[in-house]
Amino acid sequence: MQVAVIGLGYVGLVLAVGLGGLGHQVLGVDADSSRIAVLARGEIPLHEPGLAEHLARHRDHLRFSERVDDRLAEAQVVFVAVGTPPGVTGDADLSAVFRVAEAVGARLRRGAVVVIKSTVPVGTGARVEAILRRVAGFSIPVVSNPEFLAEGSALADFQRPDRIILGGSDAGAMERVAGLFAGVGAPVLRMDRESAELSKYASNAMLAVRISFMNELSRLCEQVGADVTKVGESVGLDHRIGPAFLRAGAGFGGSCFPKDLSALEALGMRHGVRLGVVEAASLANVAQRRHLAQRVIDALGEGVRGARVALWGLAFKPGTDDLREASAGALLRDLIAAGAEVVGWDPVARPGDDPVFSGLSLAEGPLEAVDGADALVLVTEWDHFLTVDPEEVSRRMRGDLVFDGRNALKPDAWTGAGLRYRCVGRPALETE
Ligand code: UGA
Repeated sequence: MQVAVIGLGYVGLVLAVGLGGLGHQVLGVDADSSRIAVLARGEIPLHEPGLAEHLARHRDHLRFSERVDDRLAEAQVVFVAVGTPPGVTGDADLSAVFRVAEAVGARLRRGAVVVIKSTVPVGTGARVEAILRRVAGFSIPVVSNPEFLAEGSALADFQRPDRIILGGSDAGAMERVAGLFAGVGAPVLRMDRESAELSKYASNAMLAVRISFMNELSRLCEQVGADVTKVGESVGLDHRIGPAFLRAGAGFGGSCFPKDLSALEALGMRHGVRLGVVEAASLANVAQRRHLAQRVIDALGEGVRGARVALWGLAFKPGTDDLREASAGALLRDLIAAGAEVVGWDPVARPGDDPVFSGLSLAEGPLEAVDGADALVLVTEWDHFLTVDPEEVSRRMRGDLVFDGRNALKPDAWTGAGLRYRCVGRPALETE
């Protein structure tokens, strides 16, 4: 099938390359000319395992362009995958989606289908359909097809999703979109567009709520002497609950959870429904990061002014170079405000001139980061850190405090190296 994907961020790019891999002819469009230049060279402008290789294998199925032009008329299905960042009220900013609708509506032929991949509040599909009708002069059906891929496993998530959700009222349009994914072995759920739009927010909010609940429990565990990893394991073995997303740690970040929680809350407010659980999940996340930073500050005591603190990991999670809403940024700000000097290292994430990371010095490697450090904080659980020799860290550090913000290190090895090991919600493993 002839397909176009407008917006080549994480979601759009993985979708474009994935659809090319399924044998479709894909036109990928993004207004960022430097991004298009990188793609035209056969490279990938972000860190995502396997994506570059997949692009190389299916290169002849993909074309890239920096504008919506007349080639779009060939497309039978057009995916909208542009960003929907939070606006001032926390609500999703839909201006890019509506701009694309105007541009696309002016070029599409009768019979084409527009699919919304971007995460958008309930009712957006109907608004896009109205724009298309006005601009094109005829009806163009809009199908909601939310994306559930996670960074770091995005291609695998595209190829083997848990489910494919299609929301709309035009059965023919829904079948055309379902046909595009015929090569993907996943259940297809067909529903009204509003339910599909809300499903995306509901999934992300449910996952974030689980994490925040475990993070709150971890603070209770620290007070009562329980181990949050044991509690999580026990709870997760109940088949009605399941084990995923129960890891307490340094809080959640990324371009999705924080933004989608605010957008869902704002949607609720607009409709007179206060989503207190969602609100609490956001607040608990802020509190968790503060709590971790405060523990480091308290442990350094008077010496925090001028202390050197090493951050291991900057990306919001392993497997990505994405720094958006990363916990490392929040910790950095609190530590700098307390007078510490902070040095960080990440295998792939590079803050560049990102203001959130201003004041951070970058080290050459994980060992260089701990040279002369008074405290070490593991923020992102990259494998790179799990194989570092604690004895070597101990030799290089000036102090002896190690905070394992993701419960990822082996406590015995670190305490055995003479370091004071601190973790999240497991007080019995901590050493003085
Ligand atoms: C998330 C969802 O998992 C995807 O299904 C969704 O498609 C995507 O948002 C999106 O809306 O585009 P992503 O943000 O890439 O994917 O990352 P996750 O793997 O969900 O991790 C989010 C954050 O939660 C990370 O900071 C991670 O460290 C944290 N986390 C995750 C925990 O603190 N504990 C856990 O048990 C799991």
